[in-house]
Amino acid sequence: MNGLLFVGLLGVLLLLLVLKLFSRRGGHVQLGGGFAVLITGCDCGFGHHLARSLDQQGVVVFAGCLNPDGAGAQSLVSRSSRNLKVLKLDVTSDEDVRKAKAAVQENLPQKGLWAVVNNAGISDWAEIEWSSIEDFRSMVDINLFGAIRTSIAFLPLVRAAKGRMVYVSSVFAFFNCLNMAAYSVSKRGLEAFADCLRVEMASFDVKVSIIQPGNFGRATNILKMKSGLDIWEKLDSERKQTFNQQYMELASDYFISTCRAGFKDTDLVINAMLHALTSTRPKPRYLLVSMTDMFFFKLFPFLPTVVADSVFSLSSMYATRKEMLYAR
Ligand SMILES: NC(=O)c1ccc[n+]([C@@H]2O[C@H](COP(=O)([O-])OP(=O)(O)OC[C@H]3O[C@@H](n4cnc5c(N)ncnc54)[C@H](OP(=O)(O)O)[C@@H]3O)[C@@H](O)[C@H]2O)c1
Repeated sequence: MNGLLFVGLLGVLLLLLVLKLFSRRGGHVQLGGGFAVLITGCDCGFGHHLARSLDQQGVVVFAGCLNPDGAGAQSLVSRSSRNLKVLKLDVTSDEDVRKAKAAVQENLPQKGLWAVVNNAGISDWAEIEWSSIEDFRSMVDINLFGAIRTSIAFLPLVRAAKGRMVYVSSVFAFFNCLNMAAYSVSKRGLEAFADCLRVEMASFDVKVSIIQPGNFGRATNILKMKSGLDIWEKLDSERKQTFNQQYMELASDYFISTCRAGFKDTDLVINAMLHALTSTRPKPRYLLVSMTDMFFFKLFPFLPTVVADSVFSLSSMYATRKEMLYAR
């Protein structure tokens, strides 16, 4: 009986493995020569690199930039072909989105708008009690509502092409830790939106992918640099009784040193974005962390909460924080 059970389990495992292997196969959609892609947040970072890469492949690129007269947008124009058009696109602005849509419709190539890459975003770090409601609001306005606003506007065009919607999230959408609450709220919300959209769009043959980069702080401009003093000066007297100024400095140093340990270039993310855009079988999620971190990040969402939370108590930073709370 036990032998039969073992053989059965082995069979199921083999079947899953074969299904996984086959699900990776599939062809490629040729985007050059007739399709367009809109990318938000192309002034720098992932958006900028993706815009250049698609331009080199002959795709018509609508590169949304927060500041079209800025150095990033100008360098994009000077280093790209005429197929790339910079559009002023602040994703928090209804007017910018409306004007960008009109510009895309006026300049649509023959095969239409294949995809929107919702990439624009900001990050910040602070404990919840060091933050104001405004800090949360501005994060969510850009990272979440910006993507929702852009999606609602452009979905009819992408649907017409039976194309792709891509969302740049983060491992912080599922990884809960100190200092990242506002960012996590925005990215977890973004993933909820993208997951629901994937279900709704399936009947229109529009595919939706989520990109989850890990630590690429050195490769882009995403890092928000601030000192412990910057945070301390914003605290009210009640919080100053609880948190320790020295700890703020330590937290700032720790944050900066952790980010400096990340990937040096954007290749892993850009290749995943290109796969999401061009594969006939794009993945719903692309987790982009080092091979050594992959097992942990794959496992983390499935851990019972009590186990997941206790992982953090292993970090010396958590112990130091506890010792320093309330201390003068
Ligand atoms: N780098 C990482 O380690 C990492 C990890 C996980 C997820 N991500 C995500 O990746 C995406 C791209 O970030 P990145 O790392 O490439 O950072 P980045 O270099 O700072 O690029 C972000 C882009 O978004 C633009 N932007 C900011 N606010 C905007 C707004 N209101 N409307 C339109 N565009 C706006 C920025 O313009 P300005 O430069 O003019 O401000 C910039 O072009 C973000 O969604 C971020 O959350 C990054």
